[in-house]
Amino acid sequence: MDSDQAWTAVDDYFIEELVDQDQALLETAAGDARTTAPGIAVSPPQGKLLALLAEMIGARRALEFGTLAGYSTLWLARAVGPQGRVVSLELQEQNAAVARENLAGAGVGDRVEIRVGPAVETSAALVTEHPEPFDLVFIDADKPNNPAYLEAALALTRPGSVIVLDNVTRQGRVAEAQTAAPDVAGVRTALRMVAEDPRLDATALQTVGVKGWDGFALIYRRS
Ligand SMILES: C[S@@+](CC[C@H](N)C(=O)[O-])C[C@H]1O[C@@H](n2cnc3c(N)ncnc32)[C@H](O)[C@@H]1O
Repeated sequence: MDSDQAWTAVDDYFIEELVDQDQALLETAAGDARTTAPGIAVSPPQGKLLALLAEMIGARRALEFGTLAGYSTLWLARAVGPQGRVVSLELQEQNAAVARENLAGAGVGDRVEIRVGPAVETSAALVTEHPEPFDLVFIDADKPNNPAYLEAALALTRPGSVIVLDNVTRQGRVAEAQTAAPDVAGVRTALRMVAEDPRLDATALQTVGVKGWDGFALIYRRS
């Protein structure tokens, strides 16, 4: 068994033991095939981690950058509960349409709003609306714009909010200080912003699993 197979086998075992996925979650995951970028949604254990984090902090409002087929959105929508709200920002109308269909089918369509367009613009527009602060933010769109997304997240959260920044390892390239790769630079600049912001505290973890070598940063807004 090579490493990828072993990681997948362990994820499969964890999923079977701990991550109950009903028909709606399975159908939403399968809906991925009708998006512009199949295969890049969070894994089931990652989706459940988001939901658990949201529940642990009593999140009622979640903001997401990058909807795809709405798989992570569905985990978040369930976690915030019937009185909660999720705003998810997505570039592609095609993906938003698939996600809306999936979320409506799962019975949570009324608590999710998907805004279509470049998230740098849609998040900036959201900031001008001065909405109630979001309790949890999941940043999972194009990586070069991570710094702008973090900036928007800070304008849209409050002390106590949690921000999850996904896909931070970049196959190990994140450790390359001199990189010119825009995705890596996007992650590194965002992490530098976190490190230099006295309001924030954070850690980052590398993970392996069905998605190979991956990782996320967990950011806590203390003030
Ligand atoms: C990794 S996928 C999101 C997966 C989803 N969060 C999940 O786990 O189910 C990234 C998404 O970001 C979207 N995206 C890419 N560039 C974007 C941009 N500039 N603004 C908004 N969304 C963007 C892509 O179309 C894609 O649907």
